[in-house]
Amino acid sequence: MNAVSTTEVAGASGGRDLLGMSAARRRSAELEAMIREEPGRFRVLTGDRPTGRLHLGHYFGTLHNRVRLQDLGAEMFVIIADYQVLTDRDVADQVSDHVESLVLDHLAIGMDPDRTTIFAHSAVPALNQLLLPFLSLVTVAELGRNPTVKDEIAHSRQASVSGLMFTYPAHQAADILFCKANLVPVGQDQLPHLEVTRTIARRFNDRYGTGGPAVFPEPDALLSAAPLLLGTDGGKMSKSRGNAIALAATADETAALIRGAKTDAERRITYDPATRPEVSNLVLLAALCQGRDPHRVAEEVGAGGAAVLKRTVTEAVNEYLAPIRARRAELARDRSHIRRVLRAGNERANVVAEATLAEVRVAMNGLY
Ligand code: TRP
Repeated sequence: MNAVSTTEVAGASGGRDLLGMSAARRRSAELEAMIREEPGRFRVLTGDRPTGRLHLGHYFGTLHNRVRLQDLGAEMFVIIADYQVLTDRDVADQVSDHVESLVLDHLAIGMDPDRTTIFAHSAVPALNQLLLPFLSLVTVAELGRNPTVKDEIAHSRQASVSGLMFTYPAHQAADILFCKANLVPVGQDQLPHLEVTRTIARRFNDRYGTGGPAVFPEPDALLSAAPLLLGTDGGKMSKSRGNAIALAATADETAALIRGAKTDAERRITYDPATRPEVSNLVLLAALCQGRDPHRVAEEVGAGGAAVLKRTVTEAVNEYLAPIRARRAELARDRSHIRRVLRAGNERANVVAEATLAEVRVAMNGLY
C-alpha cells in the first residue's frame, strides 16, 4: 500500500519544521519495525473529534492504519474527543449524532469492538481528574506557544479565546496517559500535543516517582507512511470546504465530487505532486484505492487526459469503498447496537482510568 516515498510527504508539508519532521519520520520507521516484531508490546491510543462523517483523508491518513494495528495484535483504544469540540459552535449542537457517526465509521472499516475500546471522553470522569495535576506540570507560556493550539485559535473564528482551548494539550495528555498508551498514531499537526504529553509524563514521573517503575510511559507518535491526500479542489481535505469524499457518501455523490475536481491545462497525465498538485492528488487517490504505484496509474491514463483520469478515480474509489459502505448501511439500521458498543467501550475505559487514577493518588500521596 505504501508505494509512495516519504520524501514527497516532506515536500507537501511546505518545508515547515523539516528537521523535527524528519526525526519523527525516522522514529516512526523504527517503531514500525518493532511493531512487526512484537505487536503485543504496544498499547495504542488515538482518536478524533466528533465533527461529522469521516472522509478519505482520514481514512488513508489514519483509519486504515488503525485497522492494521488492531489486526497485527496491538491493544487499541479509540477516543471520541467530544470535550474537544465545545469550542466549536458549528459542531457542538450536533455532537451526539457525530459521536454515533464516528462509531459507525470505525465499525464499518473493520474496527472490532471486542479487540478495540471505542469510548467518549465525556463518559470517563477520571480523565478530567487527571487533567488538574497535569495542568500543574506545564506553564502558561508552554501552552500559549504550542503551534497546534495557535493554529486552532487562528481557525476558531471566534471573537475571544476560551480557557478550555489552552487546556487541550493537557487534556490530550490525560486521554493518552490514562491507559498508559505507548504509541499514538497521529497526523503531523498533532506532534506538538504529543510533545506536551511526553513532557507531562516525564515531569510527573520525576516529581512524584519513588524510585519504583515510572507511573507513565513517554508515548511515541506514529506518523502514517501514507502521503497527504488533498481535497478535490487541491486544498486541505475538509468537510467544511465541500471538497471531501465521505466514507459514507453514495457512489453518485462520489462521482459528482470527482467530476467537479480541479485539474490543470496540460492534457497528458503525470504524477508530479510538486508542480501538478491537483492532478497528482487524483492519481494518488486512485493509486491508494488500488494499492498501486501512482506513477504507474498516471502512465496508464497518459494521453487520456482529465476525463479518463476522473473515470479511473471514480471507479477506484467506489469499488474500494463499496464493502465499507454496505457494512455501514447495514450497521446504521441498528442504532441500539451502536449505543451498546459505545457503552461497553465507556465502561472498559472507566475501569482502566480509575485504576490509573488510583495509582496517581498513591504517587501524589493523596489517599485519604
Ligand atoms: N486533537 C485530536 C484532533 O484534533 C483528537 C484527539 C483528542 C486525539 N485526544 C486525542 C488524538 C488523543 C490522539 C490522541 O484530531
